[in-house]
Amino acid sequence: MDHNGLKVAVVGATGAVGNLMVKVLEERAFPVSSLKLLASARSVGKTLPFRGVEVPVEELVEDSFNGVQLALFSAGGAISKKFAPIAARAGTIVIDNSNAWRMDPKVPLVVPEVNAEAALSHSGIIANPNCSTIQMVVALKPIHDAARIRRIVVTTFQAVSGTGKRAIEELRNQVSDIMNGREAVRQIYPHQIAFNCFPHIGPFLENGFSEEEMKMVNETRKIFEDSKIRVCATTVRIPVIYGHSESINIETEKPVSPEEARMLLKEAPGVRVIDDPSSGRYPVPLDAAGHDETLVGRIRIDPSVENGLAMWVVADNIRKGAATNAVQIAEFLVKHGRL
Ligand code: A2P
Repeated sequence: MDHNGLKVAVVGATGAVGNLMVKVLEERAFPVSSLKLLASARSVGKTLPFRGVEVPVEELVEDSFNGVQLALFSAGGAISKKFAPIAARAGTIVIDNSNAWRMDPKVPLVVPEVNAEAALSHSGIIANPNCSTIQMVVALKPIHDAARIRRIVVTTFQAVSGTGKRAIEELRNQVSDIMNGREAVRQIYPHQIAFNCFPHIGPFLENGFSEEEMKMVNETRKIFEDSKIRVCATTVRIPVIYGHSESINIETEKPVSPEEARMLLKEAPGVRVIDDPSSGRYPVPLDAAGHDETLVGRIRIDPSVENGLAMWVVADNIRKGAATNAVQIAEFLVKHGRL
């Protein structure tokens, strides 16, 4: 990259995703000339390491963005709703990991392997999709291009890190409490998460689906630019720390065999096929954790429909599902001279 470096801010830098955004900027040698770490007033006094230097955390305020060229946001929807437009007005390009702007028609919703070009049409804010949507569209895009997907039925098995740092602590504390004969304390989740799972991610809507499930429907349609694709999602929280898994059934317009799907996916950017079930090889969250690829396996015919395929897709929800995807969008803008 021929670049002198950019003034970059990370909003929510002390959180599970924000922290990783800082690490991913360093790992991928993103051209940063100076880094501003922003969080709530509670975090002032803390520092985070970046390229061997301890960078102080500053309080997020309206003036935080003066002179900042790129801001990566991951401090929740309310902060993004308020501060992303403030940053954009100050001339900062915002890549927002929250749900606040994803369905705004003026805001591109981008997964670089799928629709990178959409990022170029931004007017200050670009949205990072929901973690469960990202890994699903990365795995389905090559099949959609080759055989046109008409219908998707997906069930997710989602890690607690998607809820944030306090949810990781809740799982760890509950496990430790139960193993030591104490009562599990529940603060973040509607049920005990240790040794349990529940089909409840985000509030339930009038149609009976949860908000998380409808994100998968609406975001997939927006990213594929296909308002007709039918999606039915069930999203489930499980006691895993890093890595979302998804059981996906698709129905395509043209037939596509498991062998063809495997070939397409082997060539696809950001995908690794691990599919040899007879020797116990298929994706699991512990193998995805800490990596940026989307892992796909258990590819087989779904005999319940005419042109059906079933598969199992796993990715690190806070890497590809959040931090890495955001940094990849920024890299694409740099590559195209737009940053
Ligand atoms: P803080 O650590 O100061 O509370 P997570 O998703 O892991 O829970 O992290 C949420 C992130 O959003 C944290 O970095 C948190 O900072 C930040 N955040 C929460 N509320 C605010 C706020 N009012 N202003 C700025 N940052 C906030």
